[in-house]
Amino acid sequence: MKKIVTTLALALASSLTFAQNQLTISNSSENVTINKHIYGHFAEHLGRCIYGGIYVGEDAKIPNQKGVRNDVVEALKKLKIPNLRWPGGCFADTYHWKDGIGPKAKRPSIVNTWWGGVTEDNSFGTHDFLDLCERLGTEPYLAGNVGSGTVQELTDWVQYVNFDGKSPMSSLRKENGREKSWNVKFWGVGNEAWGCGGNMKAEYYANEYRKYATFMSDWNNTGKLFRIASGANSADYHWTEVLMRDIPHEMLSGVALHHYSVTNWQHKGPSTEFDEKQYFGTMKQALFMEELVQKHSAIMDKYDPKKKVALVVDEWGGWYEVEPGTNPGFLYQQNTIRDAMIAGVTLNIFNNHADRIRMANLAQVVNVLQSVILTKDEKMLLTPTYHVMEMYNVHQDATLLPVELKSNDYSFEADKLKAVSASASKDKNGLTHVSLVNIDPKKAQDITIDLKGLNLKTVTGRVLTSAKLQDYNTFENPTKIQPADFKGASLSGAQLKVKLPPTSVVVLELK
Ligand code: AHR
Repeated sequence: MKKIVTTLALALASSLTFAQNQLTISNSSENVTINKHIYGHFAEHLGRCIYGGIYVGEDAKIPNQKGVRNDVVEALKKLKIPNLRWPGGCFADTYHWKDGIGPKAKRPSIVNTWWGGVTEDNSFGTHDFLDLCERLGTEPYLAGNVGSGTVQELTDWVQYVNFDGKSPMSSLRKENGREKSWNVKFWGVGNEAWGCGGNMKAEYYANEYRKYATFMSDWNNTGKLFRIASGANSADYHWTEVLMRDIPHEMLSGVALHHYSVTNWQHKGPSTEFDEKQYFGTMKQALFMEELVQKHSAIMDKYDPKKKVALVVDEWGGWYEVEPGTNPGFLYQQNTIRDAMIAGVTLNIFNNHADRIRMANLAQVVNVLQSVILTKDEKMLLTPTYHVMEMYNVHQDATLLPVELKSNDYSFEADKLKAVSASASKDKNGLTHVSLVNIDPKKAQDITIDLKGLNLKTVTGRVLTSAKLQDYNTFENPTKIQPADFKGASLSGAQLKVKLPPTSVVVLELK
């Protein structure tokens, strides 16, 4: 009798661990595409992002083409980055684009007031950036200066890069060596207008936006510009409300949103030597994106039920103290498995809300905040975040498969978060991809996945994890953390069982 009771208790216990994480993936009935532009990046004139990270100048010993590092370009090509935002950030509202065209020796120098007070010699300008985008096969996203610029200046920039007919600006472009226009579609009308972009009120900015947007194109927006309004700071729902209410929607393609996973702006904590309390706090902030997206979307739905205006999360990521000994204004930080967790859960949120989120930009691409690439002189490394972005790029332009998830909790002290996060899609070749994250640093998670109706026969996968949360890639050991084949999934009929290691990101491919 005792033996039977023990056996039953064991069976019950094991079924309980399995039963708790339950994921159901359904065939899409609504045909929502995960816009590839959700996987966008951001390059600001900030610290060593542009200078040193991307642009080293033609005379540098580091192998380059027109001054742009070959190693960084190759790594970004592999990532399949769909768009790149430039030149800021806060820098954008101090940037006068005409300073960055023509012979480099004649370009004026300015002071980069937001970021370290360093001298900006404008050697990387419009042609350099747009040529880089062509080389990367990525779409440029130009952030216009509203804070300290003029309507004329932004209108001229649009003409300079986009106009093929005869005009003073297109002639100037040709004089500077570029015959054909670049046809730039994505335009930001200012950045963080509530803060470094001019400390404006939402109502005032809405009027400014209307004025700028009016002159950037014509009545019919013949140039098909995708104009993006500077959006809310995290949970500032009033900002979104005013923009959606006060800007005519035919002038508005996207409304931005910025949210960083910061626990305390005064004490952001170290990027590597953090404890579990800080880790938990960062995860809470990253997962807060779900609430932000739901609430900003609900406001947008009220004014735009057909979801014509996109929510563009054009700055997101982790933000910590700078690496000891580096310029505080340069925002250079290391990147650990914690950052891989931020990337994994955030991209799952974006995928699952792809009906409204159609563009996003991780901050930033090289050497600043949650970068995918770090450089040190001629050396370069790929961060854990790079690997997550690369593993997830299978979702780009795929059809979203709706998921229903019941997750175990990850508990810390008196608080708890959902341990597991998931999203799924079906690509143009009929392959189904499921991306799973377990943020619990101590417990593996067993998940039962119901795939009824999807008719899938085989599963393979890749995993990104490391023994310690604080692990990261160094210039001495740049491949300590990298994706490996995943053996923890087994498919039986329409049921998939997966065991996710602690703090891991897994992407499965099923066919
Ligand atoms: O990404 C760093 C800065 O964060 C950007 O310049 C600004 O837009 C935001 O506050």
